[in-house]
Amino acid sequence: MKIALDGPAGAGKSTVAKALAKKLNIMYLDTGAMYRGVALHMLNENVALNDSEGVIKALENIDFLVKYEDGVQKIYLSGKDVSAKIRENRISAAASDFSALKPIRLFLVEMQRKTANENDCILDGRDIGTYVLPDADFKFYLTADSLERAKRRVKELAEKGEIVELEKIKAEIERRDYNDSHREFAPLRQAEDAILVDSTNMTAQEVEDYIAGIIKAGK
Ligand code: DC
Repeated sequence: MKIALDGPAGAGKSTVAKALAKKLNIMYLDTGAMYRGVALHMLNENVALNDSEGVIKALENIDFLVKYEDGVQKIYLSGKDVSAKIRENRISAAASDFSALKPIRLFLVEMQRKTANENDCILDGRDIGTYVLPDADFKFYLTADSLERAKRRVKELAEKGEIVELEKIKAEIERRDYNDSHREFAPLRQAEDAILVDSTNMTAQEVEDYIAGIIKAGK
């Protein structure tokens, strides 16, 4: 079984995907974490966004691994666990910027498809239903209004000790939405056959139950 869960930043995709993966006993692949890992590598290597040759070179040299430790996905760069570092707010912006570059997308999409071919899984991201797994068994597009998404992000960052202003985060989320949905290659878009779920006034539990109900009914 393959499930695609797409949507903009902060819509609650990873919370719901994690819970569904556990409930259905399938693998969860957070593809945003992969883009974050590659963006961190580009920053570490001082590669500028417009330096196409530098990007390709950095991709050739990258030592990038997605691992599962006690069922939890981790990202390793050059043998180092960077799973916490990639959650920093500066990496959110860099991931959105670098993810627009085709060589980076092709590098990661190949890994994502391989994982999906070898496992029953749920993938969350921006282009899973439209590009990575167009034949997924179930496709969902999870969204919420940007103020609600910003509030959730502020809370999440505060829990990790990073204090940020709501207005600033809301503006950043809107910039990322714009960036992610206006890039040329595999932009953020609801697949024609995806089910739209607006979580603005829903709890994570309600979203999970709703999606799980659809999957159960469709089996
Ligand atoms: O889901 P996230 O916030 O961790 O994703 C970080 C960025 O990575 C997001 O702004 C756009 C990019 N991304 C993407 O382009 N395609 C995906 N499938 C997943 C993420």
